[in-house]
Amino acid sequence: MTRREFLVLSGGTLASHPLGRWVESRTSNYFTVKRFQNLLQIPPVLRPSHSDETADYYEIVQREASVELLPGKKSTIWGYQGLFPGPIIKTRQNRRTAIRHKNKLLVPTVVHLHGSATPPDSDGFPTELLLPGQEKIYSYPNHRAATLWYHDHTMDYTGRNIFMGLAGMYIVEGEEERNLPLPRDEYDVPLIVQDRLFSGDGALLFKPDPVDGAVTDTILINGTPWPRMDVSARKYRLRIVNGSNARSFCLALSSHFPFWQIATDGGLLPAPRRIREIPIAMAERVEVIVDFSAYPVNSSLTLDDLNQGGPTRSLLQFKIVRKVRDDSRVPDHMAEAATISRDCATHERSFVFTRGGASNSEVRWSINGEQFDSAHAVATVNLGDVEIWRLANHSFRNRHNVVHPIHLHLVNFQILERNGKPAAPYEVGWKDTVALSVGDEVLIGMRFEGYKGRYLFHCHNLEHEDRGMMARFDVN
Ligand code: C2O
Ligand code: CU
Ligand code: CU
Repeated sequence: MTRREFLVLSGGTLASHPLGRWVESRTSNYFTVKRFQNLLQIPPVLRPSHSDETADYYEIVQREASVELLPGKKSTIWGYQGLFPGPIIKTRQNRRTAIRHKNKLLVPTVVHLHGSATPPDSDGFPTELLLPGQEKIYSYPNHRAATLWYHDHTMDYTGRNIFMGLAGMYIVEGEEERNLPLPRDEYDVPLIVQDRLFSGDGALLFKPDPVDGAVTDTILINGTPWPRMDVSARKYRLRIVNGSNARSFCLALSSHFPFWQIATDGGLLPAPRRIREIPIAMAERVEVIVDFSAYPVNSSLTLDDLNQGGPTRSLLQFKIVRKVRDDSRVPDHMAEAATISRDCATHERSFVFTRGGASNSEVRWSINGEQFDSAHAVATVNLGDVEIWRLANHSFRNRHNVVHPIHLHLVNFQILERNGKPAAPYEVGWKDTVALSVGDEVLIGMRFEGYKGRYLFHCHNLEHEDRGMMARFDVN
């Protein structure tokens, strides 16, 4: 048992511990939820209201709903279509989607499609509010094939709104992808991993810590706490989104067998790679193939989070229930290799992520010492240019680790260096979010393609984002 687990289970005086204040409050359901009793749910795929040759048209209502997240209890959520998480949107590369969002909540919202190159008027700039009662059509060209997610992006309230449920998966299938022998249909499984805090009667409790963010005690996958998935003894493709406000995971199988990692944030890799552990910070996505034919029928294994010890370490249980035929294969070649070289770069810029800002009484977060200012661009880049950005986490060396997962809108980048060395194996490929632990410095390279206009980059610890750690860049 780690110190953290001991403290959580002992429920004593835990004021200094990030989970402590909630356990101490004795309102949490952490102790009462049974692990692996409830079956994993798959969010429904939203159907278009109509389609034509080039586009699909969708309607989404953002509304409050009362849903069962914890067995036998009701939680009030804010959801796309009243669902937690929202419905899955599934489309094909280069087929346009137009999604009419109607806000039936009592608060303003903003919708962002994370990981896509979207024209600025549909990208969800945080001050372009969709007020209660209003509707807006967000239009996406879907040029990039990848597992994306759509989520709220309201100025100062992104953390609360996503915590309440405003997030869902968005899958763009590549033009070549259907010719690959990857597992498909029921063997292609979306997994949105999120942590939440509940009161004893099931209400969602949003009480973020200003430093750590809303790191909470109950892990939900597709809205079910610690679920079980009954699987056939064959290969599965798992699309994993870390949709947590502030919690990073390090994924591994309890059997210690490796996965085949097949994708990063930006889509399929050139070739699958064998890997045992995959860290996944907030907003990152990873896709893996797991071959359950390696395990006997009636046995089980778990998907674990190596960042945790004790009873919450296992996030999801796989129970092998039957044998089936498996036509899928792990392909040798899947996509073109990503290549951005430093030689093509026209600019190098440097951004430092620290605690800071104007106020002494309130915790704020900053980029190069500045708070988010929607009226001011910290960088203006030329459309088509390649740039190199150095990102550095200089927060709190002497306290505990404060991770800043840094996300850029519009572009996919490559991690050229991490702390002077090549990128870690799991992050080689196209990325839109890169996790920086305290003291980390990474060099990323990207081409600013697609659209002119104003865009954002920010920390995806939502409580840091909402407290200033966001900046605007313009493409001219
Ligand atoms: Cu996932 Cu600017 O966000
Ligand atoms: Cu984004
Ligand atoms: Cu941060």
